[in-house]
Amino acid sequence: MPEPVESTQPELFTWEFAADPYPAYAWLREHAPVHRTTLPSGVDAWLVTRYADARQALADGRLSKNPAHHSGQAHRSGRVGIPGERQADLMTHLLNIDPPDHTRLRRLVSKAFTPRRVAEFEPRVQHLTDRLIDDFAARGSADLIHEFAFPLPIYAICDLLGVPPEDQDDFRDWAGMMIRHGRGPRGGVARAVKKMRSYLLELIHRKRADLGDDLISGLIRASDHGEHLTENEAAAMAFILLFAGFETTVNLIGNGLYALLRNPAQRTLLQDSVARGERELLATGVEELLRYDGPVELATWRFATRPLTIGGVDIPVGDPVLVVLAAADRDPARFAAENTLDLARKDNPHLGFGHGIHYCIGAPLARLEGQLAIATLLTRLPDLTLAAEPESLRWRGGLIMRGLRELPVAFSAHP
Ligand code: HEM
Repeated sequence: MPEPVESTQPELFTWEFAADPYPAYAWLREHAPVHRTTLPSGVDAWLVTRYADARQALADGRLSKNPAHHSGQAHRSGRVGIPGERQADLMTHLLNIDPPDHTRLRRLVSKAFTPRRVAEFEPRVQHLTDRLIDDFAARGSADLIHEFAFPLPIYAICDLLGVPPEDQDDFRDWAGMMIRHGRGPRGGVARAVKKMRSYLLELIHRKRADLGDDLISGLIRASDHGEHLTENEAAAMAFILLFAGFETTVNLIGNGLYALLRNPAQRTLLQDSVARGERELLATGVEELLRYDGPVELATWRFATRPLTIGGVDIPVGDPVLVVLAAADRDPARFAAENTLDLARKDNPHLGFGHGIHYCIGAPLARLEGQLAIATLLTRLPDLTLAAEPESLRWRGGLIMRGLRELPVAFSAHP
């Protein structure tokens, strides 16, 4: 039975909403499933909240990813898209382009993310995970966002791209500035993105003289073999892999562990299963964590290039459309017991990685990191508990992503 939905229209984008947006999304799904609203940035956009409409919109070729199609021209002021990307001249990446350019650029990187290539990465991710836990295991307490969920994907992506170990802490600093979402010094995000771009261009030059088997070397080889990848496209590709693969994975580990700590019976099932050396519940469990409280709350911006209808509502040309993945993934029309965390859920075609031609290219790597991080932590620190009242925890304020700012935990120290 779907749960009852509150009767008055809830306020969106308040702090209360950020802490638990699901009741508001339930209201929208029921009363205004394709809803035009003004975002905190002042930009007007349509929110799509039902599962069937969300799938249709994500795969609809009339919705472009190119911000130049926005009739409001807000992209010129950086109010749509990734903060800092326009100022740093990093716009020509997968999440801002349509076919045929999208098809060409996506083909170039898809080889790096086959399940087989990603499986080769497993020992390295395991080593990183253990090293991070070693750093706090003797203390008996930790902030799992800053000390665990945050550094793991940064180092993993740096390895994948081929960023030398001695430069990886710079990346960690820039990435840290990017996810503060305007809370840092004024212009901090734009400055961090610019620094990242200069570094990436310099790295591309260095690698050209000394190619390895990392992803940046692969892009250089492809461009040297007639694939017409400009240097700026290569830098934008490296940037989007970092951007798309970083905060998302932080949130999978953070939101996932938080959901497990708040659902002790499910956590025990998983912990026991992992202790027996099984992988099945871990695999379905990570998919369920992606559905239940996924890292990407809204899919990235789309713009109507032709008139279209979503859920019976006409969308004018030039209007932005935001598909609310978090709402679609709790649609009772598609998911039984939609608000229940069920790690063994079998029928689970969630939209946490998107759908259609922009479906997450890094999904195999994200699954590997999420599964190893959660399994290793529960195995090494089996009596892990939340060391704060859930109501006191703060959520980061970005529009697209959903993630905790901190996750304090306690456990028996392991000297
Ligand atoms: C749990 C972690 C992750 C989640 C939940 C996630 C989610 C998503 C979603 C929802 C999209 C589609 C966005 C849209 O259509 O608007 C997407 C696209 C993308 N993701 Fe991920 N992602 C994750 C991890 C990663 C990782 C680790 C990488 C790479 C290192 C990555 C690289 C990308 C790229 C490059 C795209 C754009 C693909 C395209 O436009 O063709 N993601 N991701």
